[in-house]
Amino acid sequence: MNNYFDDLNILPHNRIINEMKKFAKTNKVPIINDDGLTLMLTLVDLIKPKKFLEIGTAIGFCSVCIATYDNDVLIDTIERDEEMYLQAVNNIKLAKLDDRINIHHADALDFDLRNLESNYDMIFIDAAKAQYSKFFEKYESLLSDEGIIITDNLLFHGLVVNRSSIENRNLKALVSKIDYFNYWLKKNKKYETKFLNIGDGVAISRRVKKK
Ligand SMILES: C[S@@+](CC[C@H](N)C(=O)[O-])C[C@H]1O[C@@H](n2cnc3c(N)ncnc32)[C@H](O)[C@@H]1O
Repeated sequence: MNNYFDDLNILPHNRIINEMKKFAKTNKVPIINDDGLTLMLTLVDLIKPKKFLEIGTAIGFCSVCIATYDNDVLIDTIERDEEMYLQAVNNIKLAKLDDRINIHHADALDFDLRNLESNYDMIFIDAAKAQYSKFFEKYESLLSDEGIIITDNLLFHGLVVNRSSIENRNLKALVSKIDYFNYWLKKNKKYETKFLNIGDGVAISRRVKKK
């Protein structure tokens, strides 16, 4: 069923993007899936972001896709793992996007916000799932008034709705944290959030306007 839409939706593709996708598959690097990317590009079409911030770069796949899709967007992206960071630097260079994608090698939770811009139109949180509320609370101050925060993997491979089947204690604790985050986000009165059953579960949060 899904393959049918895969044929119809044209996602950014070129030699570098195809190689990144292949590398991620072979090396089991978690990158945004086609459904998630399709949603992200739809949001880019609607919001027309000037500035995009990504927490969790991995090999730079999502950033490269977005910057390839939209020639006007400037991206900041943060990655803590050195190997991933170096791969991303190389991929961004090969894609000739180093003038528009600014990659920072840091733990996003310790990162000094003065190294970033302000007023990001889109913030994509896609790093350690157990820390989502901390990322959200830290980076929301950089969101533009009309901006949105996107959080991914909120179903965690379907395990969030099937917790009783999990035997591993650490995995159970992680999944409980994601479930906690989902309800924390729902209750967060500063934002209006839509939870979507797309990809691995995505939330889109927009700041509630002051009247
Ligand atoms: C799911 S991958 C990101 C995929 C990427 N957004 C994409 O779709 O192409 C998550 C990445 O977040 C990084 N990460 C996890 N916790 C982090 C943190 N506290 N600060 C920065 N990066 C972090 C991991 O090293 C990993 O490479």
